[in-house]
Amino acid sequence: MIVTENIAEIRRIRWADSGLSWGFVPTMGFLHEGHLSLVRQARAENERTAVSIYVNPTQFAPTEDLSNYPRDMERDLSLLAAEGVDLVFTPSDVVMYPDDFQTAVTLSQVTRPLEGASRPTHFQGVATIVAKLFNIVQPARAYFGQKDAQQSVVIRQMVRDLNFNLDVVICPIVREADGLAMSSRNAYLNPAQRQAATALYRALQTAKSAFERGERDGRALRRLMKETIAAEPLARLDYASVAHPLTLAELDVVENEALLSLAVFMGQTRLIDNLLLPE
Ligand code: PAJ
Repeated sequence: MIVTENIAEIRRIRWADSGLSWGFVPTMGFLHEGHLSLVRQARAENERTAVSIYVNPTQFAPTEDLSNYPRDMERDLSLLAAEGVDLVFTPSDVVMYPDDFQTAVTLSQVTRPLEGASRPTHFQGVATIVAKLFNIVQPARAYFGQKDAQQSVVIRQMVRDLNFNLDVVICPIVREADGLAMSSRNAYLNPAQRQAATALYRALQTAKSAFERGERDGRALRRLMKETIAAEPLARLDYASVAHPLTLAELDVVENEALLSLAVFMGQTRLIDNLLLPE
């Protein structure tokens, strides 16, 4: 496994292997089974696999957790080596954002609601870094998790709009045994918050059960999620949404498909989760 922070070296490796299909998994590290599920799918579908580990400062607002974001490069690299990854790109901030850096990728619509409403600068940072990573690694396929549902929509849209020559593959959410979606940020939770965090999955399941019993009123489904979160004293709801899976517009009535999603604060830690209907 080659580990490098050097863009020229990545280009050399890609050039030498230009006939092979590369799968690429961008991450911010502190890897868990969710990340590794993406790596395994990339390995299964491509001749070579590349992973990036970079905590991208431009997708964090000044008030957010950039400086505390959990990191463990040594552990991450041994996990990736065990998965048979070929190349790990671990750039530094000066490599990605040299002093005179001045470009940004902005999407006008799908970045606005949900996460974008709570984190207005977040997706510009994500789109910009992912565009850079795509240009550096030039994969045939790039793997993202349904865990970050809106991020997946944003990346798909950007790939279409800017004609990136790759397929975006979205992989299912990997959960803990009690339903909590795996996340690097779960490391922030104290034991009581960790226990209370199961409310997110419960809220989604409650709305899903109502949908399966025939409930099609978007407001009623949102209310069920809100009530489940409100019943958990350690949790504070940011948003609960029943939206169109592609436009992310809130639905009054669920006709065919819907993306149920929510963001919840447990103390200072902000958790997100979602579920696509019908499952
Ligand atoms: P990060 O939060 O490290 O996540 C990297 C990838 O792993 C994302 O595509 C995310 O959706 C996926 N992932 C995280 N938890 C998952 C889970 N429980 N099940 C399945 N997939 C999961 O997302 C980012 O980093 C960054 O925004 C990035 C795309 C790397 C740009 O900086």
